[in-house]
Amino acid sequence: MRIAVCISGASGALYAKRLIEFLNGKVELFVVVSDEAKKIFKNETGVSIDNFLKDKDVKYYDNRDFYSPLASGSFIVDAGIVIPCSVKSLSAIANGFASNMIYRFADVCIKENRKLVLVVRETPLSAIHLENMLKLAHLGVTILPPIPAFYSKPQTIDDIVNFVVGKVLDLVGIDNSIYKRWQ
Ligand SMILES: Cc1cc2nc3c(=O)[nH]c(=O)nc-3n(C[C@H](O)[C@H](O)[C@H](O)COP(=O)(O)O)c2cc1C
Repeated sequence: MRIAVCISGASGALYAKRLIEFLNGKVELFVVVSDEAKKIFKNETGVSIDNFLKDKDVKYYDNRDFYSPLASGSFIVDAGIVIPCSVKSLSAIANGFASNMIYRFADVCIKENRKLVLVVRETPLSAIHLENMLKLAHLGVTILPPIPAFYSKPQTIDDIVNFVVGKVLDLVGIDNSIYKRWQ
């Protein structure tokens, strides 16, 4: 299975970190990171994205590199995840504004009818954000804001992160037991 994890500059780098840790070695994994996301990743996790990825089995592409295989619909990817997804990235994706590799890859997923999950993180949400999300939902994109549930009685930040990441994994069809399911 081939999966692309795109990290944009919203708060919530821990979600991307956990998702990549889980997928490492299990799938063919592609990672794209925006410039702002690089700074936020370091700020929120304490480790730079380069250091984090250096012992992972990932294909890591520059967000400006349109020569990446992810830029073309002829390169088959099973699912794409933008995690976290800023409202700027949401807006670019909703409008087909493919000016970097994250937006271009999302555009390719939409035109090729491939699974795309956006973990949109902002609060509160304006009508602009809601309209962009609705537009994409109508196109088959899954909008998955990182909203924790409390029926699983989370005790730690890890529990909350795992809940969101587990929901993402469920959506792209990857078996996992990283969060407590309702029985
Ligand atoms: C520390 C920090 C936290 C941010 N958190 C968010 C956020 O949660 N959601 C959001 O939409 N933008 C957030 N932003 C603003 C985006 O980073 C900014 O709009 C940027 O242009 C997004 O670019 P990108 O989506 O290409 O990475 C944050 C910025 C900083 C510096």
